[in-house]
Amino acid sequence: MTTPATAVATATVAPGSVAAVILAAGKGTRMKSARPKVLHAVLGKPLVSWSVDAVHQAGVVDVICVVGHGKDEVEAVLRARHGEAVRTVVQTQQRGTGHAVQVALPSLSADVAEVLVVCGDTPRLDASRLAALIALRRQRHSLVAMWTTTVSEPRGYGRIVRDEQGAIVAIVEEKDATDAQRRLREVNPGVYCFDAAFLREGLPKLTSNNAAGELYLTDAIALAVERSVGSVVGLDVDEAITLGINDRVQLALAERQARARRVLELRLAGVTILDEAGVVIDSDVSCGEDTTIAASVALHGRTRVGARVSIGQGCVITDCVIDDDVVIHPYSVCDSAHVRSRAVVGPFARLRPAADVGEDAHVGNFVELKKTVLGKGSKANHLAYLGDAVIGAGVNVGAGTITCNYDGHGKYQTTLHDGVFVGSNSTLVAPVTVGQDAYIAAGSVVTDDVPADAVAFGRSRQENKAGRATAVRERNARKAGKSP
Ligand code: UD1
Ligand code: CA
Repeated sequence: MTTPATAVATATVAPGSVAAVILAAGKGTRMKSARPKVLHAVLGKPLVSWSVDAVHQAGVVDVICVVGHGKDEVEAVLRARHGEAVRTVVQTQQRGTGHAVQVALPSLSADVAEVLVVCGDTPRLDASRLAALIALRRQRHSLVAMWTTTVSEPRGYGRIVRDEQGAIVAIVEEKDATDAQRRLREVNPGVYCFDAAFLREGLPKLTSNNAAGELYLTDAIALAVERSVGSVVGLDVDEAITLGINDRVQLALAERQARARRVLELRLAGVTILDEAGVVIDSDVSCGEDTTIAASVALHGRTRVGARVSIGQGCVITDCVIDDDVVIHPYSVCDSAHVRSRAVVGPFARLRPAADVGEDAHVGNFVELKKTVLGKGSKANHLAYLGDAVIGAGVNVGAGTITCNYDGHGKYQTTLHDGVFVGSNSTLVAPVTVGQDAYIAAGSVVTDDVPADAVAFGRSRQENKAGRATAVRERNARKAGKSP
C-alpha cells in the first residue's frame, strides 16, 4: 500500500524546544470567496492542513494556528483533521503578520526556545526544507533563519536586501520599496525560524509606520540586524515549494502541480495510471500495487483502494473502501461504499452511502444501491434500485427490480435470504422478507412475505384469445379509414 501523501515521514528535527506558528487569520480578499482562503483545498486537503502536516512532518509537535477571519469554520476544520495536535489563538483584528505572531506568543510555553513561522496559504511547504531551516539556525546560533528564493517575477513579494558582504539586512515590502529595491529578484517566501527570546523582546518594538499601516513580521529582520549584523541567515530554496495562494489562478496552478506529483508518486509505488488526463487522486487516498486507473478517474476523500483493482474511465469514487481484485467498470459513481474482494461494479453503476457489495458480487449497469448489503456472489446486473435492503449470498436480482423502501414518511427494509431468485421487473414493497431459495415470478408486486422455497406470483394471469388478432386488426384499420 502507498501511504497517503499526508503520512510521508520526513521528521529530522528533535522536538522539544521548537514550536510552530501558522498564520491563517487573513481574509484572502483576492480569492473573492465567502470561504476563508485557508480552507480552499488542494487535492481535497484544505490549504491550512498542508501547512500543519508539513510542520508536523518536519518534527515540530507544538503547533499553534492563528485564526481570525472565518475562525469558527477554520477551527472546526482544524479540529476535525488534526484533533489535539493543533492549538488555535484568535487574532480578532488582522493588523498584519507581525501582529499575528504577537497574538500567538503568550500561548507559547516558557521553555520554547525557537519558533518556526509559516503561512497557512502555502500548500507546497516542504517538510525536509523546514527541518533544514531549524537545523541551520541552531548550527549558526542566529536570531533568525529564513527561506529565500530567487524568482523571475518578484511582484507581490517582500524583497530581500543584502549588504556588500552579502549578509541579509532587511526585508522591504513591495508597497514600501524603492524602484531599485523592486528590481531585486531575491524574495521572502514567508518561512522563518526565530530565536524565541529575540521574538519575545523584538516584536513589541514593531510599528505600523509603513505603506500598509500594519505591523510587519518582516520588520523583525532589520531589528535582528540592529542587534548584530549576520544574525539573520538565509536558506535558499526552490521557488516551486514557496508557491503561496492569493487568488484562484494560483490555486488552480497548485492543484495542477499537486495532481501531477500524486500521479508520479503512485506510479513509482506500483500503480498503473493509463493516462493521467483528468485523473485526480486526493492526498488522503491510498492505492495498492498493480492497481490500474484509467483516464478521468477521480478518487476523493479517504478512499482506500486495494491491490490489483481496475478502475475504468470516468469513475468518481469518494470515501470508499475498495478491496483487492475488484473491477469497477467505466463511469461508475461510488460514495461511502464498501466493495469487497473480486466484486465487479458498473459500467454506469451508482453506489450510495452504506452500500456494501459482497465478495464476488456483481452490480451492473444502471443499478443503484443505497444502504444495502449485497451478499457474497449475488448479482444485480441491470437496471435496478436496491435501497435499505439486506440481500444474502447467491441471490439473483433480475433486471428492473425495485425496492419500494419509502412511503413518503418512513424508510423500510427489504430482506432477501440466500439463494433467492427475483424475476425481472419485480417490485418489492418494504417492509418485506423473502425466504431462502424462494422465486419471485417476473413482473410481480410483492407486498407480503414469501416463505423459504416458495414461488411468489404477484401479477395477474395471462389469457390468450385464439384468432382474435385478425378481428383487432380489421377494427383498427376501419377506425383509421384504411382497408385492412
Ligand atoms: C507576506 C510577507 C512578504 C512575503 C509574502 C510571502 C509580511 C509583511 N509580508 O506578504 O514579505 O513575501 O508574505 O507570501 O509579512 N495573516 C494573519 N494576520 C494578519 C495578516 C496576515 O494571520 O493580520 C496571515 C494570512 O492569513 C496569510 C499570511 O499571514 O496566511 C500572509 O499574509 P498575506 O497578507 O498573504 O501577506 P503577503 O502580503 O503575501
Ligand atoms: Ca500571501
